[in-house]
Amino acid sequence: MPKGETSRDGQGQFTIGVVGCGYWGPNLLRNFNQLPGARVKYCCDLSDERLSHMKALYPHLVATKDVGDIIKDEEVDGVVIATPVSTHYAIGRACLEGGKHVLLEKPLTQSAAEAESLVKLADEKKKVLFVGHTFIYSAAVEKMKELLKAGELGDIYYVSSVRVNLGLFQEDINVIWDLAPHDISIMNFLFDSEPVTVTTFARSYIQPGIEDVAFLILQYPGGTVAHIQVSWLDPNKIRRTTLVGSKKMLVYDDTSTLEKIRVYDKGVDVLPHYDTFGEFQLSYRFGDIVVPKINEVEPLKKECSHFMDCALNGTRPQSSGRDGLAVVKVVERACESAKLGGAPLPLDAGEGSGGR
Ligand SMILES: NC(=O)c1ccc[n+]([C@@H]2O[C@H](COP(=O)([O-])OP(=O)(O)OC[C@H]3O[C@@H](n4cnc5c(N)ncnc54)[C@H](O)[C@@H]3O)[C@@H](O)[C@H]2O)c1
Repeated sequence: MPKGETSRDGQGQFTIGVVGCGYWGPNLLRNFNQLPGARVKYCCDLSDERLSHMKALYPHLVATKDVGDIIKDEEVDGVVIATPVSTHYAIGRACLEGGKHVLLEKPLTQSAAEAESLVKLADEKKKVLFVGHTFIYSAAVEKMKELLKAGELGDIYYVSSVRVNLGLFQEDINVIWDLAPHDISIMNFLFDSEPVTVTTFARSYIQPGIEDVAFLILQYPGGTVAHIQVSWLDPNKIRRTTLVGSKKMLVYDDTSTLEKIRVYDKGVDVLPHYDTFGEFQLSYRFGDIVVPKINEVEPLKKECSHFMDCALNGTRPQSSGRDGLAVVKVVERACESAKLGGAPLPLDAGEGSGGR
């Protein structure tokens, strides 16, 4: 839609339908419902129980089991999809073909081929395809990127991310598809690039054939190594990313309410002159620990508002379909690597990737 033009509902509002009202969809619905300029007209789910729950919370909504009702409604500008991953492609495709802007939850699709096809279709239809990489809208992740860009940490040696807890076991996807998109999207965002290789070890202990524990190693251009541990089989809930740089180190703990980021002025310097191995000396630096101030707004609120801005004003999404495709490519390759017992596999930055 050209800049400055409003939607077609005659009230100057951006009108949407939310498809999938299970665990995550209601969070999207709540945020759009509170967003000035937006109007949620539909909730859609296959479950009567979920629909009546949503109607009890928001009596003004039109409830439907058929996404087709939303697609054929001329008043609707955008569709927000939070259904199981296996349904993303078909629902996303139908909405784009029906001329709607689409916000599709992560992971964008269950294969890179499907993601590529949606990116292409969105381009053809000149509609926004937006992926729900929610963490890149968090103030903590934005602060990390700001510190990286400012060179606060120096050269990044490596990054390590742990995203583990007990459950929730999924029946249709493994833990890599379920949890790793968060870490991969954060890292691609922080480094403004995509990994060039991936190596994965994974095991399925509880449900045969569905990996519940995985260890991924990604290499980014320039040599930065990223380690991601994801698990549904851990006694503790941990959401922690550690960045180790040549100047400083940073720990991002998403479970902390007050100190999400800590920057450690810690490091090791090699003393400049030595003649023999015996004289080889390292100097350990233990400086201040700084907790940067973060003005936390609900990341989903920013994400929803940004989607509306992209649809109405042609702003480039911070989490575009191409960014969704880039993450799906890594997850797909990571699963292949795991099936091969941890073989390192290259990732080609082919069509649709990059350009962030
Ligand atoms: N961005 C995030 O932080 C985040 C967090 C959690 C989940 N998610 C994503 O959100 C999506 C949904 O996850 P969830 O945990 O809410 O799943 P869920 O199973 O709790 O809910 C999915 C809902 O979709 C409905 N549904 C299934 N097929 C449908 C169809 N064809 N039409 C209409 N409704 C249909 C189901 O009845 C169910 O109520 C997944 O892609 C998941 O990865 C994202």
